[in-house]
Amino acid sequence: MICRQQIRHGGFVETDNRLEIRTVASELAQATFAEDVRAGLSRTPKALPPRYFYDALGSTLFEAICLLSEYYLTRAEREILERHAADIIGLVGSPLEIVEFGSGSGEKTRLLFDAALDRQTSLRYLPVDISESALRASADAILDVYPALRISGFVSDYDGAIAAMRSLDRTGIRRLALFLGSNIGNLDEAAACGFLSGVRATLEPGDALLLGADLRKDEATLVDAYDDPLGVTAAFNLNLLGRINRELGGNFDLRSFSHVASWDAGEGCIRMHLASSADQFVRIDALDLEIHFSRGETIHTEDSRKYDLTSIDRLAAATGFERSRTWTDSRERFSSNLLVVRS
Ligand code: TRP
Repeated sequence: MICRQQIRHGGFVETDNRLEIRTVASELAQATFAEDVRAGLSRTPKALPPRYFYDALGSTLFEAICLLSEYYLTRAEREILERHAADIIGLVGSPLEIVEFGSGSGEKTRLLFDAALDRQTSLRYLPVDISESALRASADAILDVYPALRISGFVSDYDGAIAAMRSLDRTGIRRLALFLGSNIGNLDEAAACGFLSGVRATLEPGDALLLGADLRKDEATLVDAYDDPLGVTAAFNLNLLGRINRELGGNFDLRSFSHVASWDAGEGCIRMHLASSADQFVRIDALDLEIHFSRGETIHTEDSRKYDLTSIDRLAAATGFERSRTWTDSRERFSSNLLVVRS
């Protein structure tokens, strides 16, 4: 049986036997999208917030990116978890529960479920994702395969979930938080500090955060990972304009914009843009707005920062954590870092 009730923060919670999904402040989302698009396209240089990549189509396109051989990150992290999931769970200690920020399909997380369920008979999983369709699909698929799992999911951005999570009961059980893939790379230093401090506030001494961080490497490998020859990454980036067309009555001609990924060696980050190939005006009905693009003008959509261990240590130290272990894949492309709460 599914029941639905209002909760504080303007969201609602739906509960089933083993599945509970909280939607945090969903009614604000539409107004925020519209206002963020207005603000981002009215400024110079133009920019759009990356959180809007992940509608149902965007989440699916991102899953497709993860299947590309050029996008080595997914396979490298999977290799690490295949080898070391048992060590990771052992180091945190059980019984534990698993919180995951930006859970997406939750595919790689299954390796940690397996390791945890080798040491405890049941497990609570708390995934957080901005995409309701991705969260529901992954929760259904996981519950089918893992009868010992209970899921308390959050359809939310990170801040909303951190706030909501502080009011959850938890006694006598450890918590392992996950921030996998290259999610941390999408935050600039201030935002990464803010986010990690927020995660720290949901943890207690003895708890830990497993932080994925892509490592600096040669430019060709990086640019290939963010500009694949099949064009899936281009479609993922362009979908942001498609979403404006669908949800806000935009009239972007997607054929007159192209995906650009470039490596900024000084900052150690891949920068993603959409470039207008023509001098043109674009109308967005819901905003009653007409935007001018000159030929070659770009919209900045996302950065993906690449790390070394020194910068991870700095981030950990600034946010109440300490890096206790790091594992890399056999080609040292990607790192998984166990950050423990510093008391
Ligand atoms: N978290 C992913 C990353 O930084 C997001 C991503 C992958 C992405 N490919 C992209 C974002 C292309 C924008 C454009 O690796």
